[in-house]
Amino acid sequence: MKEFDFNQLISLCKRRGFIFQDSEIYGGINGFWDYGPLGVELKRNIRELWWMEMVTKRNDVVGMDSSIINHPKTWEASGHVENFTDPMIDCKNCKKRFRADEITGEKCPECGGGLTEAKQFNLMFRTHIGASADSSSEAFLRPETAQAIFTNFKNVLDTSRQKVPFGIAQTGKSFRNEINPRNFTFRSREFEQMEMEFFVHPSEREKWFEYWVERRLDWYAKAGIRKENLKLREHAKEELAHYSARTIDVEYYFPFGWQELEGIADRGDFDLSRHIEHSGKDLSYFDPFTQEKFVPYVIETSAGLDRTLLTVLADAYDEEKLEEETRTVLHLSPSVAPIQVAVFPLHKKLKENAERLEADLRKQGLRTFYDDRGAIGRLYRRQDEAGTPFCLTFDFDSLEDNAVTVRNRDTMQQERVNLSQLTDHLRDLFKSS
Ligand code: GAP
Repeated sequence: MKEFDFNQLISLCKRRGFIFQDSEIYGGINGFWDYGPLGVELKRNIRELWWMEMVTKRNDVVGMDSSIINHPKTWEASGHVENFTDPMIDCKNCKKRFRADEITGEKCPECGGGLTEAKQFNLMFRTHIGASADSSSEAFLRPETAQAIFTNFKNVLDTSRQKVPFGIAQTGKSFRNEINPRNFTFRSREFEQMEMEFFVHPSEREKWFEYWVERRLDWYAKAGIRKENLKLREHAKEELAHYSARTIDVEYYFPFGWQELEGIADRGDFDLSRHIEHSGKDLSYFDPFTQEKFVPYVIETSAGLDRTLLTVLADAYDEEKLEEETRTVLHLSPSVAPIQVAVFPLHKKLKENAERLEADLRKQGLRTFYDDRGAIGRLYRRQDEAGTPFCLTFDFDSLEDNAVTVRNRDTMQQERVNLSQLTDHLRDLFKSS
């Protein structure tokens, strides 16, 4: 496992337009981040890869997209009003606020001042619906996307022609008023989740739990994350969330230690039963083959999109010592790289030819970028930092031999490829990278 200075990755994210501090011109706002031109593409590609593997390629998972604000009773039923809390401690002197589990000792880690007793702090963001701001209009921004899947269980079941076992997937924003957002985007107050709730017969809970743990671990390799930096960790009984009978986390080795990327949880019938109780609606399932009526159990896979993106970047980041310089490079997989192919002209006289080539590749569905502002060496370095796997140079020989130079980001080797075979060749390279 490689160690590196995480601050270098943060500065690359800003320098190359992956991630910016939100409201930076006003001094920033803690726990909120904005994605720039490269970041938004990377995010889209990761989301798309998740959807492709979890929904598109399967006939037993369907998607949905719910509101971010749901009926407040949702959060009473789910247990979030009562249980979604972190213990919080304040410094009496500097007024800084800490999560109790981050404090060791009796004194403030910042100023050495005295500390208050720990108080429970609910992490849900509150808002009001409509013009009056009293308790009757109070609502919450969702802290997870999962609950609207449960409240829509019957709607989806009745309209999608699915039968248990089947899953419902959703991606979208979630909000948590974290006491201490930290480690760049790793713990934010606004973030995106990619969640799938898989409804099973109670007798099959273990089989499906094991199945989804394996599938989800494999998915991270598809996003280009190296297996040796991933591990599974089973939750001890005392750390299980209020809804979970069993949870296994997928963890990644960051410069700040092993950290959770995703939880695969056996939620049993907790959620559906609670919504049956609080809404008075029948959310049970009738099996037409066995004639059995039951409340399905749920195996949940819950990943963070922003956290996955940070992991993809951290895993791809490298500083390579070359003879005369250090090369900073992102070894992003072509499956998620914001730019798959950059095209340069060797000389300004070849600008139009190179632009035509780039436009042609773009039309064929490749993610491309044209650049002619700088010497070829500098253009390569810029694309290394953007994580672009291949660069093409159109030179004077190209006019004669109808070929271009393809430069491989990882090996820095160059090869000559005829334009008639270029797209197929690039697609082969993407598959094998
Ligand atoms: N529905 C279950 C659920 O929400 P969770 O472990 O609280 O479970 C799931 O969250 C995933 O969402 C985490 O593994 C992480 O990837 C992401 N996540 C949670 N809180 C986050 C935060 N404050 N910032 C960024 N990502 C977060």
